[in-house]
Amino acid sequence: MKRRYTVLALVAGVHATAGLIVLAQSQSASQAAAGANKGGTATPQGTGAGPFVTLFQSKSLEPDIQHGAVIAAQGTAAGAPACAQCHAYNGVSDASGAFPRIAGQSRSYLAKQLNDFASGVRNNALMTPIAKALNADDIRDVTAYYAGTNGPALPLKPPDPALVKRGEALAKIGSAEKQIQSCNNCHGPGGVGESPAIPYLAGQYSNYIAFTLREWRRGYRKNSSDQMAVVAHKLNDRDIAAVAAYYQQVASPVKVAELQPKE
Ligand code: HEC
Ligand code: HEC
Repeated sequence: MKRRYTVLALVAGVHATAGLIVLAQSQSASQAAAGANKGGTATPQGTGAGPFVTLFQSKSLEPDIQHGAVIAAQGTAAGAPACAQCHAYNGVSDASGAFPRIAGQSRSYLAKQLNDFASGVRNNALMTPIAKALNADDIRDVTAYYAGTNGPALPLKPPDPALVKRGEALAKIGSAEKQIQSCNNCHGPGGVGESPAIPYLAGQYSNYIAFTLREWRRGYRKNSSDQMAVVAHKLNDRDIAAVAAYYQQVASPVKVAELQPKE
């Protein structure tokens, strides 16, 4: 059975209190998947096998990138939908920010998230059933595939400069007054991530960053409770809007596709 989803993600800007995600079945192809098939190259990333549990359950330690690419494009026989419907084949998702950019995140971070969705430490109406439908080999292969993609950053509207400035201070310096250490302390200089455990924030969509920080604050995202939940609880709504706006406009290691005028 091949099901297609239309996902209406009503994420009303970084000031909204919650991103509301409505899932509906439909005949039409997802917009997220359309027209985003460029630039995804599947090369294994040298992040090491990583001692996550699923690897011990799977038959082989070597990921099958080709199999991972098929899952991304078509889903699995066991019922997981094509990841490309929401994350695009090249992992850049779409500019709404309802779906995180996953291109080039480390294998072990991506696999940890899938296992956390499946176990319920992280909860999401869309991702939980999808993660549960993947077996250990699927997770090993599809995460290896997306870790090797480097789709371009999409061109996005410029954010409010005052918000970006405030976000930059939190990201680079933190706040002595609120006892928040700088985000880049853990997320690496420029927010490029500390592979394998800590994800990049540079170039991540602001709506998604704000959404997931609020999930930690509300206790819906319970993974890494000792690190990120602690940080998230110290951030007020304006802090969240500020760091989210800041990181979205930090150049990710992959540049915005250059726009060339045609003669
Ligand atoms: C119907 C839409 C949809 C499909 C299809 C989908 N995802 Fe997701 N995915 C989401 C949403 C929404 C989130 C954010 C959930 C949240 O933060 O609570 C997400 C989050 C994730 C994350 C966490 C990323 C991070 O930065 O923490 C991973 C990993 C992921 N998806 C992998 C996959 C894989 C692999 C597939 C295909 C097998 C897939 N997704 C298919 C909607 C989708
Ligand atoms: C003490 C280390 C530490 C600090 C400081 C820290 N983080 Fe994190 N962050 C982590 C870890 C570890 C993860 C991965 C959690 C997991 O495994 O799900 C993470 C994940 C995240 C994610 C999820 C990204 C995704 O793709 O889902 C966001 C957003 C984030 N951090 C934002 C911030 C912001 C903003 C700050 C500063 C205000 C910050 N972090 C400071 C350790 C830290």
